[in-house]
Amino acid sequence: MRKKLHRKDLLGLEDISAEEIELILNTAVSLKEISERPIKKVPTLRGKTIVNLFLEPSTRTSSSFDLAAKRLSADTVTVSSSSSSILKGETLLDTARNLEAMRIDAAVVRHSSAGAAHFLAQRLKASVINAGDGSHEHPTQGLLDMLTIREKLKRLENINVLIVGDIAHSRVARSNIFGLKKMGANVSICAPPTFIPYYIERLGVKIFYNLNEALPHADVINVLRIQLERQGKELFPSIREYKELYRITKDRLQLAKSDVLIMHPGPINRGVELDPDVADGISSVILEQVTNGLAIRMAILYLLITHK
Ligand code: CP
Repeated sequence: MRKKLHRKDLLGLEDISAEEIELILNTAVSLKEISERPIKKVPTLRGKTIVNLFLEPSTRTSSSFDLAAKRLSADTVTVSSSSSSILKGETLLDTARNLEAMRIDAAVVRHSSAGAAHFLAQRLKASVINAGDGSHEHPTQGLLDMLTIREKLKRLENINVLIVGDIAHSRVARSNIFGLKKMGANVSICAPPTFIPYYIERLGVKIFYNLNEALPHADVINVLRIQLERQGKELFPSIREYKELYRITKDRLQLAKSDVLIMHPGPINRGVELDPDVADGISSVILEQVTNGLAIRMAILYLLITHK
């Protein structure tokens, strides 16, 4: 079995193999118990330095990368758009090169533009980890989602995952589709036609427009946030109509399997894509996704940085 990731960077799940995904998930499983110890720290990355370059808002990804690095004893610094010299007109590349001049080992990058992490990865010696680039990819979210599903259902092969919501603007959807398809899962998407990207069927997904028809097949329902901030204009007539047709309610959940898993990458628009009693109900594994996110980020930092 593979023991190392033979790559400098983690930029997406499109170009990663099933064997590499398996290695990351298994490494995350073995590192997860560190967070359950009274002293949640091991010396694995002592002496390494990681910069979290978050140029777009984040709660989960930013704090979990920071905690992951600290649990492995790395030194961390977080740079955000509101506090960086990018506000004074410095380019992304100049910012990154100046950080690299301080001999960092890795940069975790969130940016509103698709391709920002790739751009830096080609120009920096440090490892670059994509923490979400525009509507392109969010690989650690895809990995933590797969870890959560595998933990609950004991496999990924041949399970039916339904992704509901704003597929067109979702880096989470893209990373989930790439990763899950490689691991042998069946992926369906359900959304209004304006939220379905052109040619998405080429990725091997089944398309539903009617949620009530899609629900009975699903072992997992991954509900996406409606990303109003990414849209130039509203792509549906009204929030009220979207809620009526696509919101996961307790009543609608009766159409799904009794043991279906409800997932959401967060942040949730409660009452828009998901009702509170579903988000907090017995089928929900949303907070377990967050716990697994920490383990996945520990695994990525460990695999990319220790083997350099
Ligand atoms: N799921 C996710 O990326 O959440 P944040 O935007 O809070 O990091």
